[in-house]
Amino acid sequence: MLNSFVFVLLFFIFVKFATLTCVRCPTGSVAHDEYQCVLICEAWYCDRLVDCLACGPGTIAGTDPQNCKTCDPGTYSNSNNTECLACSAGQETNINKTGCSDCEIGYYNPQPSQMCEKCNIGTYAPNPGSTNCLKCPMGSFQNMSGESFCYPCGVGKYNPSSNSWNPNDCLICPIKYYCPNDMTAQPIICPKNHYCDSDGLSTPKKCPVFRVSNEGESKCQFSIAFIAITASFCVIVIGIIILVVRLKIQNKKEKQKLLRPEKLPENETLDFSELRKVVPMTQPNQIVYSGL
Ligand SMILES: *[C@@H]1O[C@H](CO)[C@@H](O)[C@H](O)[C@H]1NC(C)=O
Ligand SMILES: *[C@@H]1O[C@H](CO)[C@@H](O)[C@H](O)[C@H]1NC(C)=O
Ligand SMILES: *[C@@H]1O[C@H](CO)[C@@H](O)[C@H](O)[C@H]1NC(C)=O
Repeated sequence: MLNSFVFVLLFFIFVKFATLTCVRCPTGSVAHDEYQCVLICEAWYCDRLVDCLACGPGTIAGTDPQNCKTCDPGTYSNSNNTECLACSAGQETNINKTGCSDCEIGYYNPQPSQMCEKCNIGTYAPNPGSTNCLKCPMGSFQNMSGESFCYPCGVGKYNPSSNSWNPNDCLICPIKYYCPNDMTAQPIICPKNHYCDSDGLSTPKKCPVFRVSNEGESKCQFSIAFIAITASFCVIVIGIIILVVRLKIQNKKEKQKLLRPEKLPENETLDFSELRKVVPMTQPNQIVYSGL
């Protein structure tokens, strides 16, 4: 009797265990033991259906118990890896995804929770942590994106527009103007008493002595004063020459008058009393003027 009771008991126990069915734990829980599931711990994840592990930097525990969720670009996980936090404008997720770092020079980020982007051509970002890019100023250009500076057009050139990306926007300074600065926006008119005689000048040239010019000239003229002085000098010199020549001619004529009276009949004896004053003569009576 006892034997049969034990047998029946063992039979029931056998039947109970033989018919035990295993059920998969629902998502977000793990098997605690053979009989029950427990919720997995928040902010951790399970690599197997038993252990809870911490998520790494830049990730948090999500709905998938076996994989951490990666934080979006522009965000980072807090130290407990429970939450993705936003980086502010001018910043982005740092390389280790443990926090944020400033945008590098040449890059910008106008909004939180975004990554930094390259500045466009024609613009630049000179400082780290920029929330916007600056337009290249007049007199410069930037032909590449992601730069922290603009190329200056250079002296002798100018560029009247900002935001330029094309090197050809730098124009050669025209004749009668000069472009003195590395970043000249507008050519400057050649000043008074200077001349700008070619394209691409960086400095106006000074007029030589005695010459002058108005504003915006390519050459200098002799000054009125110089012309007046020169003219008067010439007049004086010519006057002196004329005077000297006249005196000489007069002198010569007078000498000739003395030597040669105006009109004399041929073979007539002269009265040399006048001439004797000038030319002393030993035998005045022998000299006979024989006409022309
Ligand atoms: C990290 O978790 C601990 C314990 O849950 C909490 O006290 C602490 O405030 C959390 N820190 C952050 C930064 O969330
Ligand atoms: C980032 O990680 C590298 C290598 O793991 C480490 O050398 C560096 O110090 C870390 N930087 C920061 C800011 O945590
Ligand atoms: C941009 O301009 C600079 C300076 O003029 C020049 O050296 C460089 O080659 C240009 N780059 C491109 C991509 O055009």
